[in-house]
Amino acid sequence: MLRSRIKANSATTKRYTLAMNSIINKMPKNAQYTLAQISNFLPITAQLYDLWRERSLSLLTRENYSLDREFALLEEWLQPQAGQIFLDVGTSTGNYARVLAKHNCGVTAIDISKHMLEKAVQRGNNQGITYEHVNVEYLPYSDSSFDGVVIGASLNEFHNTERALQQMARVLKPNGKIFIMYLCESDTAFGRLIQQPFKLSGVRFPNREKLAISLEQLGLQRVRAEVRRAVAIELFVKAPKSSMQTQVQPSLVRAAGKPAKDPIK
Ligand SMILES: C[S@@+](CC[C@H](N)C(=O)[O-])C[C@H]1O[C@@H](n2cnc3c(N)ncnc32)[C@H](O)[C@@H]1O
Repeated sequence: MLRSRIKANSATTKRYTLAMNSIINKMPKNAQYTLAQISNFLPITAQLYDLWRERSLSLLTRENYSLDREFALLEEWLQPQAGQIFLDVGTSTGNYARVLAKHNCGVTAIDISKHMLEKAVQRGNNQGITYEHVNVEYLPYSDSSFDGVVIGASLNEFHNTERALQQMARVLKPNGKIFIMYLCESDTAFGRLIQQPFKLSGVRFPNREKLAISLEQLGLQRVRAEVRRAVAIELFVKAPKSSMQTQVQPSLVRAAGKPAKDPIK
């Protein structure tokens, strides 16, 4: 798999001041990015993103799968309550963040693409949302600081999925929920063949069972799942504190700063 060794922006505290809001920059210094991730650094990707996003699930599932239907599932499964704090990982233009903020939740919406975050700010309706330029593999937040984590299609792009999962599990409170929408490994040989060229740019199509095992080892159980062709939407719940037996795999420890071979791809 092609890997790029592009260095992340080096500033750790620089702020991008915008007309309506500001985006806090907490990007790590030496992170590595796949070509798929780098494509999101381009202004044109951010400009065209919403055109694709509105149609993406209908095209991928080959049924009428609107954003409203996806957002309704997010609300039904997460049952967001006023005052809860969520982390939106790979927010792009802030779709999931806005749904949660509507329920008077606080949302920290992160992305590695400054242009995506700027587009999110420009779209407006951002009350309750803080946009931060952050890489999920290096979350600058304390343990157990979020009631829930939402991940809309960004799981397919992470450079080191295991490290990202470990970070998300760490910042989630006991009993907290993780809502994930992602493209999973196709269950047909033809589907897997179609997915193959995308893997060259670093896109991953996680195997659903391997992903569930990885999260189980981090103390999370899969409680809901809806699968339409290669689109999987799943809900995981973190164990209460007393029964948590999080086993951090040695590969995760080793992975700090050095992308390990991804066991769930
Ligand atoms: C397919 S878009 C998902 C958009 C959004 N969640 C939604 O539902 O519309 C993937 C986004 O994840 C971001 N991303 C990829 N890797 C990331 C990482 N390691 N940390 C934070 N964001 C990341 C990309 O920049 C891109 O904006």
